[in-house]
Amino acid sequence: MDQNAKKQAVAKAAIQYVENDSIVGVGTGSTVNFFIEELGKIKDKIEGAVSSSEASTKQLKALGIEVFELNEVSNLSVYIDGADEVTEHKHMIKGGGAALTREKIVAGAAKTFVCIVDESKRVPVLGRFPLPVEVIPMARSFVARELVKLGGDPEYRQGVVTDNKNVILDVHNLEILNPRELEQTINNIPGVVTNGIFALRGADIVLSATETGVDTFK
Ligand code: 5RP
Repeated sequence: MDQNAKKQAVAKAAIQYVENDSIVGVGTGSTVNFFIEELGKIKDKIEGAVSSSEASTKQLKALGIEVFELNEVSNLSVYIDGADEVTEHKHMIKGGGAALTREKIVAGAAKTFVCIVDESKRVPVLGRFPLPVEVIPMARSFVARELVKLGGDPEYRQGVVTDNKNVILDVHNLEILNPRELEQTINNIPGVVTNGIFALRGADIVLSATETGVDTFK
């Protein structure tokens, strides 16, 4: 089974977590794109979605799924999103698609976070995937110097502007042994909007597609 087939399998499995007549929190990325396709098939059973990016919003609307502003929604039962890395503690690195800030906001607002990955994303320790940090443009060089002090090797993601009109630094060579602490430390640097460690609010459920099926970790 190739990686896309696994992404499709895990996207299908995530549909069971979507409640009838609910508004669904929707993440961003190639795995989520498969999930949005599945959501399109049951669109008459849901009220709509809250989206974490302009890209997902476009795909949702193209399928006829109503997209609500988060400010209009008081009750979000589930948020479904992919990850770049996920541990057995259900801590993640996210932001490979530069949507980390809105993803973190919608994840924070949801009762249950279901993370959908293929098994290649499962790691013992976070950090091999360069950690994305969303930064206010004028703070880019200052924040980069602060990240070096933390032991990282930040690289400006050239040509990328986030949906919030900010820039991304990808931090290489971090071995993230204490993700909750590092998440807070990086977020405390002035000019950082947020970073791609999702540990303070990790996933509640991880669905991981393997050669033989979809494993569930709670
Ligand atoms: C986007 C994300 C994605 O969830 C993450 O990059 C995984 O994407 P994919 O499913 O394409 O591997 O955090 O900001």
